[in-house]
Amino acid sequence: MFLVVFLLAATAAAQCSATFDGRIPRNATKALFTSAQSPFNPKYVLGQNVTWDQVVDFPDVGPSVFDKKVGGKPIEIIINDKSIFASSSEGAETALRRSELLVNNKPNTVSGKKTWFMSFRSSPTRPLNLTHEYVLAFHEAQDYQADFYSLKLGTPMHPRNTTPSYGQLIGYQSPLLTPDHFSNGSVLYLQGYKYASPVQTYFIVPFTEGTWHNLGLYLDYNDNVLQVLYSTGHERLNMVTPMLANNLSGAAPTTLGETHFGLQKRPVGANLTNFLYEGEQELGINETIVVGGIWQIQGHPKNCSIA
Ligand SMILES: *[C@@H]1O[C@H](CO)[C@@H](O)[C@H](O)[C@H]1NC(C)=O
Ligand SMILES: *[C@@H]1O[C@H](CO)[C@@H](O)[C@H](O)[C@H]1NC(C)=O
Ligand SMILES: *[C@@H]1O[C@H](CO)[C@@H](O)[C@H](O)[C@H]1NC(C)=O
Ligand SMILES: *[C@@H]1O[C@H](CO)[C@@H](O)[C@H](O)[C@H]1NC(C)=O
Ligand SMILES: *[C@@H]1O[C@H](CO)[C@@H](O)[C@H](O)[C@H]1NC(C)=O
Ligand SMILES: *[C@@H]1O[C@H](CO)[C@@H](O)[C@H](O)[C@H]1NC(C)=O
Ligand SMILES: *[C@@H]1O[C@H](CO)[C@@H](O)[C@H](O)[C@H]1NC(C)=O
Ligand SMILES: *[C@@H]1O[C@H](CO)[C@@H](O)[C@H](O)[C@H]1NC(C)=O
Repeated sequence: MFLVVFLLAATAAAQCSATFDGRIPRNATKALFTSAQSPFNPKYVLGQNVTWDQVVDFPDVGPSVFDKKVGGKPIEIIINDKSIFASSSEGAETALRRSELLVNNKPNTVSGKKTWFMSFRSSPTRPLNLTHEYVLAFHEAQDYQADFYSLKLGTPMHPRNTTPSYGQLIGYQSPLLTPDHFSNGSVLYLQGYKYASPVQTYFIVPFTEGTWHNLGLYLDYNDNVLQVLYSTGHERLNMVTPMLANNLSGAAPTTLGETHFGLQKRPVGANLTNFLYEGEQELGINETIVVGGIWQIQGHPKNCSIA
């Protein structure tokens, strides 16, 4: 009897507890991000010979809704011409620009029933070029050969003289979206499994300058479903989609994997067949995204009075 009560209590305690906390304390310096104390991998994913203290900054904007509660502060993630990642197996990805905070070797964050929280807003001084496709968050499979979901911003990558496609729009489409948002790339959208045919877009909203866009992403790795929660500014999150089917758990032995947050800028051009190496990027860029409140809990936010 005692044992049963104890086990129930233990399960209840695990519900809603933080399984990862990437919220940055107000007194943190850039050096945190290159140190072993960083909540993220201090070495990846960056241009060759670039270090995290060179591409992180503390912008002059107020905290996001999830940082406010814990005295956290936003960070600004920078990409420039040096942001060319070189992997040991595939060499320098010359047509991409990447600075991505990495949560890896943490199987607990990519299994079970988890919810990620994250907030994004434009930089007051170093805007993005939304004629490009940017990836702000994604879950990459352990063998690096697939992305299970990707949060994107901007104009979907497309060969020159073709029409950009957002894939199959299901789930939530903001009533505030206008044709102008689509044509100028001011759209934030969540896509599912990379190799789904067609690729599915589960969530799409306007990306508004100077406004926090807050996401909750409930991921059920056991049942391969996800649900999107969303708000702007300091509003409470709302569930904006039903549970939607998506390949989250991969197939053994390629399950688990890692989660990336930050900036990945994809190229434009005529031939994007192999967009790691083919396609164009302007030189002389100095672009950032403002990021706040990255953390993860066990279970669904509705059970935790968060939504
Ligand atoms: C920030 O403040 C916390 C709590 O007061 C302290 O433990 C930590 O060492 C401080 N960090 C830095 C980088 O000053
Ligand atoms: C990085 O540093 C290594 C060793 O000094 C050098 O060989 C390489 O060319 C550098 N790469 C870049 C992109 O600067
Ligand atoms: C934005 O990107 C497009 C496509 O690469 C390029 O033609 C344009 O010059 C860029 N705009 C700015 C302001 O850099
Ligand atoms: C894109 O279009 C929207 C809707 O008209 C507008 O509010 C926004 O300022 C535009 N953004 C850019 C970068 O032109
Ligand atoms: C799910 O993703 C894995 C790649 O990790 C793939 O092997 C598998 O075929 C996918 N399953 C479906 C149903 O798409
Ligand atoms: C496009 O890129 C692919 C992959 O790198 C290459 O094999 C092909 O020759 C290129 N096609 C053209 C027209 O440049
Ligand atoms: C990038 O932009 C920021 C903000 O405007 C500026 O302070 C910085 O000097 C720029 N960096 C480069 C290398 O131009
Ligand atoms: C949320 O709470 C309900 C009712 O207690 C429970 O059935 C459900 O499994 C919980 N959801 C998650 C994701 O833990």
